[in-house]
Amino acid sequence: MKNNIFIETYGCQMNLADSEIVGSILTKAGYALIRNIDEADFILINTCAIRDNAEQRIRKRLRELRALQRQRTWVKIGILGCMAERLKTQLMEEEENVSFIVGPDAYRQLPDMLHHVNDGERMAETLLSDTETYADIEPVRYDTNGITAYISIMRGCQNYCAYCVVPYTRGRERSRNPETIVNEARSLFEKGFREVTLLGQNVNSYRWHDPAGDIGFPQLMAMVAQVNPLLRVRFATSHPKDLSDELLQVMADYDNICKCIHLPVQSGSERILKLMNRRYTPEWYLDRIDAIRRYLPTCSITTDVIAGFCTETEEDHQATLDMFRRVRYDYAYMFKFSMRPNTYAEKHLQDDIPDDVKTRRLEEIIALQGEIALENNQKEVGKTFEVLVEGVSHRSDQQLFGRNSQNKVIVFDRGDIQPGQYVNVRVTRCTAATLIGELAN
Ligand code: 5AD
Ligand code: SF4
Repeated sequence: MKNNIFIETYGCQMNLADSEIVGSILTKAGYALIRNIDEADFILINTCAIRDNAEQRIRKRLRELRALQRQRTWVKIGILGCMAERLKTQLMEEEENVSFIVGPDAYRQLPDMLHHVNDGERMAETLLSDTETYADIEPVRYDTNGITAYISIMRGCQNYCAYCVVPYTRGRERSRNPETIVNEARSLFEKGFREVTLLGQNVNSYRWHDPAGDIGFPQLMAMVAQVNPLLRVRFATSHPKDLSDELLQVMADYDNICKCIHLPVQSGSERILKLMNRRYTPEWYLDRIDAIRRYLPTCSITTDVIAGFCTETEEDHQATLDMFRRVRYDYAYMFKFSMRPNTYAEKHLQDDIPDDVKTRRLEEIIALQGEIALENNQKEVGKTFEVLVEGVSHRSDQQLFGRNSQNKVIVFDRGDIQPGQYVNVRVTRCTAATLIGELAN
């Protein structure tokens, strides 16, 4: 029987979490997850549609895989995730070596589909659901360090930012039963995991309706933090408009809730934020930054930003640079605007900033952020941090790496420490991306 499955994942952390759900559904149905693509009977590509270049990368990968299919003629390729949802059967028409298309809410149908696909059918399942959360499925951690794991706590998004394809590829917002989330965290801890990241497109709008009282995100965080003080808890991503003082207070109350907040700003210009339908002003955003600094003085702050959104002027761009100077982010994901089909921007605005201008603005943001990240890291030199050790450093097997609560990577000489342990490390020097230190205990 042809039952070897290889899953390849692109895009965000949500997609990594989804691939583990897909892995679980298929192993339960008798398929084998394998690590070597050369032994695959089915190749599942979990895709991203957020920017055009994400999609181009998948198309290129499909062309590369034709060589493998010439050797192993029975191999079937399926497209999962956001690009599957966006393009549906059109993708199968355009890419002749794709046999099946599965949207993010249809993964339970995969075992059935693979039967049909194996018989030579081509099929697509892309119906979105208002209720699917895969709550009862325990993900298989097939590509894991055994120490850190993702837990998906909600799906979908209905913020409708003007540039963003996600509401159309992932459907309406829905939250997962908190009991199943806490159980998953506990089970991970018992297996030796020491850090969980709770995932959702906008975790702050997590809400579970319960007769005994609704559970919101701050309460959920507290419940997961109580699983064990040795289990670190992180989360991503927050929308600035919903970042509450109540959440900041819960973060302050628990040492094992990591002091790191990802708060995508997207632009520093009031006019552009309005056009993006972000529903906050720069003043509101800076007020939230002040609140973070007040409740959590050691907290690191990271962000996402888009350069060259429709109509962006030099003045708007300067406002973004100013925002970066004011907040002094520890890390930023920085992107050039890419017009996405079906979004508000595509229907109502013009992609009017020339590519070379977008590139120059992006480069200016990257250069500024590089300076700020280095200066922020230089301030950490001499401090001692508790580090959860994740593994052997990529550069030298004499060194280990881990992260501090602020999510900064720290590299240090290994001694007789094992991954999974907590150690204190004193920072002795740094680059813009990494802290380098020595064991302090
Ligand atoms: N073009 C460029 N960047 C985008 N993002 C989302 N949509 C687009 C787009 N059309 C960025 C945002 C978001 C991150 C995940 O990707 O910054 O926060
Ligand atoms: Fe994740 Fe958005 Fe890409 Fe979908 S489109 S994989 S939700 S980043």
